[in-house]
Amino acid sequence: MSRNYLIAANWKMNGSNALVKSMCAELTPVLSQLSPEIAVLICPPATLLTAFTGVNALAIGGQDVSAEGAGAYTGQLSAALLLEAGATYAIVGHSERRQYQGETDELVAAKVAQAIAAGLTPVLCVGETLAERQQEKTQQVIAKQLMAVYASHPELLVKSVIAYEPIWAIGTGLSATPEQAQETHAFIRDTLAQLNQDAAEQVRILYGGSVNAENCSALFTQPDIDGALVGGASLKPDEFAKICLSI
Ligand code: G3P
Repeated sequence: MSRNYLIAANWKMNGSNALVKSMCAELTPVLSQLSPEIAVLICPPATLLTAFTGVNALAIGGQDVSAEGAGAYTGQLSAALLLEAGATYAIVGHSERRQYQGETDELVAAKVAQAIAAGLTPVLCVGETLAERQQEKTQQVIAKQLMAVYASHPELLVKSVIAYEPIWAIGTGLSATPEQAQETHAFIRDTLAQLNQDAAEQVRILYGGSVNAENCSALFTQPDIDGALVGGASLKPDEFAKICLSI
């Protein structure tokens, strides 16, 4: 089964109009060299979404999306607002939001459903803490996070992207090894196959956690790794361009 790749940037609470400009200048020639099976996505802070104009081959996305459609929800951004700003994707359930904003599996599930209903592709983040890995609970934690979203709505799977982000690898410089990542990606695909075999084979599973220009090629050669969700290295246009070109 051949799946397309997605290289995604999560700028988190970083960036500026100047960075948008330099990223677009760096990526424009890169995008024209990439084969059509490789898509590139940038998820900047929402205030910068509309600054990405004129680079048609580049997808942009939100870093979060409200579980509500519209209304009196101060500070939240609906899928419709993101779409109007040009987004076609939204990261959902990033571990930083689960940790700092107290997002539960139930809320994450509602956000995934809302994003898809409005026409956005959610990038659902799952992953274990270091303590959970050391207690050999990685699979249990990830299965729970996945099932909370898809067990009663398996039809959402085919419209989703999954990102495996081991929390111990985020921003630490300590990436999972390609073998460790592959093992968990295969587990994610097998778990999802229990709900819908075809959708599980098609769904793109990205790896996130200290991906950089040096370690990305070895990750991308693994059979169940279909791209990356890149944090820190995506703030450096030349390094992010190298990651895009390394598939
Ligand atoms: O969503 C991307 C992420 O959490 C990984 O961040 O800085 O380790 O690449 P980083």
